[in-house]
Amino acid sequence: MANETHPQSATPGAAYARFHQRSLTDRDAFWSEQAALIDWHTPPTQVCDYSNPPFARWFVGGTTNLCHNAVDRHLATRGDQAALIFVSTETNQERTYTYSQLHAEVQRMAATLQSLGVVKGDRVLLYMPMIPEAAFAMLACVRIGALHSVVFGGFASVSLASRIDDAQPTVIVSADAGSRSGKVLPYKPLLDEAILLAAHKPAKVLMVDRGLATFTRVAGRDEDYATWREQHAGTTVPCEWVESTHPSYTLYTSGTTGKPKGVQRDTGGYAVALAASMRHIFCGNPGETYFSTSDIGWVVGHSYIIYAPLLTGMATLMYEGLPTRPDAAIWWSLVEKYKVTVMFSAPTAVRVLKKSDPAALSRHDLSTLRALFLAGEPLDEPTAQWISQSLGRPIIDNYWQTETGWPILTICNGVEPAPSKFGSPGKAVYGYDVKLFDENTGEELHGAGQKGVVAIEGPLPPGCMQTVWRDDARFVNTYWKSIPGRMVYSTFDWGIRDEDGYYFILGRTDDVINVAGHRLGTREIEESLSSHAAVAEVAVVGVADALKGQVAMAFVVLRDASRAEKPEDALKLEGEMMKVVDEQLGAVARPARVRFVAALPKTRSGKLLRRAIQAVCEGRDAGDLTTIEDPSALYQIRDLLAPR
Ligand code: PRX
Repeated sequence: MANETHPQSATPGAAYARFHQRSLTDRDAFWSEQAALIDWHTPPTQVCDYSNPPFARWFVGGTTNLCHNAVDRHLATRGDQAALIFVSTETNQERTYTYSQLHAEVQRMAATLQSLGVVKGDRVLLYMPMIPEAAFAMLACVRIGALHSVVFGGFASVSLASRIDDAQPTVIVSADAGSRSGKVLPYKPLLDEAILLAAHKPAKVLMVDRGLATFTRVAGRDEDYATWREQHAGTTVPCEWVESTHPSYTLYTSGTTGKPKGVQRDTGGYAVALAASMRHIFCGNPGETYFSTSDIGWVVGHSYIIYAPLLTGMATLMYEGLPTRPDAAIWWSLVEKYKVTVMFSAPTAVRVLKKSDPAALSRHDLSTLRALFLAGEPLDEPTAQWISQSLGRPIIDNYWQTETGWPILTICNGVEPAPSKFGSPGKAVYGYDVKLFDENTGEELHGAGQKGVVAIEGPLPPGCMQTVWRDDARFVNTYWKSIPGRMVYSTFDWGIRDEDGYYFILGRTDDVINVAGHRLGTREIEESLSSHAAVAEVAVVGVADALKGQVAMAFVVLRDASRAEKPEDALKLEGEMMKVVDEQLGAVARPARVRFVAALPKTRSGKLLRRAIQAVCEGRDAGDLTTIEDPSALYQIRDLLAPR
């Protein structure tokens, strides 16, 4: 807390340290101040109810609405200001919606969803490309108290079916097609296939027809959005005031098991956390333009394409297309044209740009841009150096997860400007009591330079996941460990903290991999490959890759080893297996290679030695192999990968 009797310390970092400390030791007062950043229909009566750890209930007793805060409350002051700027270099469309227009569109979508039977608490699954209707649908859901569940458009039928079965949506909103690099990617056949595969059948499918691909309509089930939209011209749909703890959405993410987890988010805590993050971390102001290059199918898209910029009264730029098409200047031309002040992307995108003409970055006036935030995967030093020099703007790394919804580690320049350190996303963000624990002993590691599992002592701050959708036990068992008197959330990342409190993230402790910033579960890929009739056993590991950060590598033991004896047969089989993954999970999950081996390295008790396989693939020492049953299995992998 501010010390009245001593003048403010001039020690660099002291102001932020106090801010962070206060967020933990004077938690309720701290968050009660942040809660004033949003509108409440009824003010909360309790800031944090942590009487049933690890379940935290934020702003209890308060009622509010995310859509009201993101749209309606700005109408009086900024109705004619840009709210959503849609740019597609795939379809050559560019369209700006003011806050008033966004308000009208969201209500037409909300009225349509209501006409199709959606009521408060229902789930609406979105399987959509990056088009304005996706934003309208998300906002329409929260407006009427329904939960959206966005499934990334790059996922295919099996991934989609498992999410349909878990979310059990009343309605699915989709579109005829997406487009990538000018190539039309039809969505409807994948959706139809997924609904066939799923046990749960949605009552209705609402189709946005972009005119990119023809598709078949299922009579009685499929509805045309253009027709409904016409019918609801001028319709008003009031915001449903919901409890702060009412879930706003679920978003699926991968973990150790093959079954994706539905991360469930609340309403009031999320709104407060995002509004506060815009002030203290991203330094975005009302009336400015925010550009996040993510996809609405990922958490960054939820928090920083849709909600945080709109909650702040900013214009948000939604971009459909590649960073390099028509050329590598496209993003920077948008920064200039729309006077973007804050930009958010991923290291992978920067590495792609790095391969293009560097002049593309200096062709445009970037003077409005205050900083480029990068997240989602480790930011390597050469990439950070290159982009920082090319743009001449501060680059700010930030580390977080689908589960948390907003940054855990970064530099909070809005509180006190501080230097970045290469390779580190920064310090613990206010609200997060970040700790490191020894994986084996479970002891907290206090010293600098010790490697441990990055953990957060409960309660998690506002905005983080409430639970796993319909599976409280899975939430507790997956993420939480009890240590006498307290509960600790595991991020499943390794980390080190230096003497200045900066953290360095060293990769996942579980079977999650990060391919081009996309979080994937190796178990899901293994399950998919196993469905190929020739496969007896399979192991998928993440292997370091210069462009994508990591790629998936698959090692398969065939039922009949003779099928891959000839190189041409092996190649054909490899192609077939990649196709299985493409069709079931989507090309995003396709392994870079599928290699055939006689056996997989396992412990004597039959546990797959994934870390050893990964180490060998990366040319590192495989570590302690005393428990291995048959070392030759590992040598075979090493020999397969050895350059010839
Ligand atoms: O392993 C960490 C890595 O991405 C994981 C979370 O991915 P996702 O749920 O898709 O959420 C991304 C939100 C930005 C983490 O467990 N990760 C994320 N950001 C960083 C990172 N690794 C290193 N540095 C980062 N800045």
